[in-house]
Amino acid sequence: MIISPSILSADFSKLGEEIKALDEAGADWIHFDVMDGQFVPNISFGAPILKDIKPLTKLPFDVHLMVVEPYNYLEDFAKKGANLITFHVEAVEDVNRYFDKLNELGVKIGLSLSPDSPVELIEPYLDRLDLVLVMSVYPGFGGQKFIEASLDKISKISRLRKERQLDFLIEVDGGVGPANASIIKEAGADVLVAGSAILGRDDYKKAIGELR
Ligand code: DX5
Ligand code: ZN
Repeated sequence: MIISPSILSADFSKLGEEIKALDEAGADWIHFDVMDGQFVPNISFGAPILKDIKPLTKLPFDVHLMVVEPYNYLEDFAKKGANLITFHVEAVEDVNRYFDKLNELGVKIGLSLSPDSPVELIEPYLDRLDLVLVMSVYPGFGGQKFIEASLDKISKISRLRKERQLDFLIEVDGGVGPANASIIKEAGADVLVAGSAILGRDDYKKAIGELR
């Protein structure tokens, strides 16, 4: 299981130390939530922050763009150190144009589905993806409750992956914690994002261990 702590729940007054602590605690990736106040009702942080924290760890940066039409920002995030960029199928008009650009930039491609979006919305694109991100809360805020209906979605995507013999990863984001990590895994997830369940705890290593 790949564990990707979401630094949306970090203490931003000591973000550098938080990154190092997550690295030492055994995180696999760092999940970086970008919010524009339009696609979601909240604003977080952008590429300049990524640039400053990138040198602090060798862990891959998993950038989650909750932004309307982020096409013009892709290159900036890639240059500042994103290893994987995930954007929302609901937020862009021409999904293929994004895939072409990310391929050109040499960045891994993730496509995300919000809780009310059916799997059919991403089905045509599965063969172009490195990762599918299933949002298990409404995007915008950390600390929300896991939406149980997400489990069916994860299973469905996992079945499609098998049927089509594809190898993209399935990542789950929102309300993930020690109480539901194993059922999410059984449904077919490979990557768990967790904000409050890791950074809201005192012992990051223990918190990460409880999710595996
Ligand atoms: C929500 C973000 C999540 C968030 C998860 O829009 O995409 O990554 O930080 O936080 P928790 O794990 O607290 O639900
Ligand atoms: Zn996220």
